[in-house]
Amino acid sequence: MTTAVCPGSFDPVTLGHLDVVRRARSMFDRVVVGVARNAGKTPLLDLDTRVALARAALADIDGVEVAPVPGLLVDFCREVGAAAIVKGLRGGADYDAEVPMALMNRHLVGIETIFVTGDPALAHIASSLVKDVARYGGDVSDLVPAPVLPALAGAFGRST
Ligand code: PNS
Repeated sequence: MTTAVCPGSFDPVTLGHLDVVRRARSMFDRVVVGVARNAGKTPLLDLDTRVALARAALADIDGVEVAPVPGLLVDFCREVGAAAIVKGLRGGADYDAEVPMALMNRHLVGIETIFVTGDPALAHIASSLVKDVARYGGDVSDLVPAPVLPALAGAFGRST
């Protein structure tokens, strides 16, 4: 059985993430979505919430699991038996951010990162923008899975 890890902050999980996970699942028998801490970001949602939302959003996709990443991503990859990391690229900014991490992870343990391009119709979706829109009461219902909506509303002190 081949396993890949799809890592990310997932703060919160978006429809763009789901697209990348589905593409990873089309290449691997098993995909483990690793919800991790990004040292460069302060999350809106705590780790348990991010994991729970990703689990709810991905529950209907066979062969996909969600787990927290407690430390280094490469250690998590070894623990789950991953042959590769799969990440999505929306454009040049993603490339610039992702390549150093891919090179570092390969330096650490030799694991390769496979980059997939997602659906261009979803290329404008970023967790940071979703939060910015939701913060001011904008409609993000066509950008994120349904379980994320009450979590965002709660985080920003709004009712759904
Ligand atoms: O969704 P993001 O924020 O682009 O994902 C980045 C993430 C969380 C995958 C990355 O920061 C990460 O791997 N964090 C876990 C700790 C780690 O392994 N850091 C070294 C990365 S080279």
